[in-house]
Amino acid sequence: MKEIFLPLTPILHNWVKNITTHPAPLFQQIEQYGSPINIHHLEPLKENIAAYQKVLTKYQVAHQIFFARKANKCLEIPQAVARMGQGVDTASYRELQQCIAAGIDSRQLVLTAAVKNKKLFQLAQAHQVTVVLDNNDELQLAQEVAEESGSTIEVNIRLGGFSVEGRKLPTRFGFDLSSAFETILALSNNYPNLQYTGVHFHLNGYSVGERVAAIEQSVQLIDKLAKHGVHTHSLDIGGGILINYLQSEKEWLAFHEGLRAAILGTRTELTYQNDTLGIVKIADRLFGEATVYPYYNRTHKEIVLEQILTTKSSIFNVPIHQLFTERKLEFRMEPGRSLLDQVGCTVAKVAFRKKDSHGRLLVGLEMNRTQLRSSSADFLVDPIHLPQRDSKEKNEACYAYLVGSYCLEQELILKRKIQLNSYPEIGDLILFPNTAGYMMHFYESEAHLFELAKNVFWP
Ligand SMILES: Cc1ncc(COP(=O)(O)O)c(C=O)c1O
Repeated sequence: MKEIFLPLTPILHNWVKNITTHPAPLFQQIEQYGSPINIHHLEPLKENIAAYQKVLTKYQVAHQIFFARKANKCLEIPQAVARMGQGVDTASYRELQQCIAAGIDSRQLVLTAAVKNKKLFQLAQAHQVTVVLDNNDELQLAQEVAEESGSTIEVNIRLGGFSVEGRKLPTRFGFDLSSAFETILALSNNYPNLQYTGVHFHLNGYSVGERVAAIEQSVQLIDKLAKHGVHTHSLDIGGGILINYLQSEKEWLAFHEGLRAAILGTRTELTYQNDTLGIVKIADRLFGEATVYPYYNRTHKEIVLEQILTTKSSIFNVPIHQLFTERKLEFRMEPGRSLLDQVGCTVAKVAFRKKDSHGRLLVGLEMNRTQLRSSSADFLVDPIHLPQRDSKEKNEACYAYLVGSYCLEQELILKRKIQLNSYPEIGDLILFPNTAGYMMHFYESEAHLFELAKNVFWP
């Protein structure tokens, strides 16, 4: 069968276009720091924050944006966010402690860690950082720490169990809505050293409708509490706002159609050994969809935020933004991935070329797959080949799989076959665009005692 390549062309910010057109400094940095490197630029971060703020200001919604640090570990990012007057959502002792040590004001910090031990509560308490509480044991421990210090801890209550179209959203997080009212109402009696200031949720997935429903049900709770004399200062809607990695919807749809055809054997493979990316094949029938992040999104970032805010609430009969303004309720959000759109790239050096047992071209990179990994079954964005030398001969395009340095058959950097405009040479670079959100850090490991990738900032 003839090879028909299906591209997934990335959107590139100007700074990425510049470094790919003039890559000499990248070669120097790989020389200096080893391969791979994660290269960041703070300009897109500022643009992403400004875009959210523009929407919130348009609807006169008092707000604070907390960057979810778990999406990228570099301290420079929280520092830049804080300089812009926004905040940081921290998820561990070290995430919080580094932000405090960097001088970020405690009012610009919130602690949402999924597991909080006594030491973590003590750190938050000592610096008067607001803590988002998830369960009764955390209430108890927070009270104990606050009492021991003879002080208070400001707390937000995480909510879960929202109903959407007659279905309860399943979650392991938060206080169930059915019991949250009693819990919050009884806080001042049962936990006198905890100072309640707001409610919080973070939903799995990216649905606007579910976020609207969760806001409405949170506001119903807030109103009921107000009737009983309990004031709520803020409502935090967490993260989960989509971004768009790809230029073309047509390419995105064609890839998915091609993937199904390849799995059914009616076209050449698009993934290594025809990996189904999560689609199930039984006999000649396919079930389910590829379990991948929706890399193409017409509606993303500030467009999603505006959709949420302008949706008319069927319960309150006003747009969502009015629920905040009418109650002087501060809107909070914790975007991770969406603030990091276009903020970073990962660059790795070509170490070898070879054919596998079945004749597929493999390009070995000096990196491993934990350095480009998320919960998505594959990173469906075309990488960019940066040849070390301008080839004198006219080189033919070739198709290859990128493999990494862990000793596993499954050690593919991308499961998807990629197209290279020329046959790669040892020492060439491969740049993976838009990797700052989760891709570079979330799953990185030091197996085989390989060193972690260096993180650098551009310029
Ligand atoms: C509590 C909380 N807030 C914010 C986020 C950030 O989500 P995202 O990066 O999708 O915006 C997460 C992600 O897991 C989270 O658990």
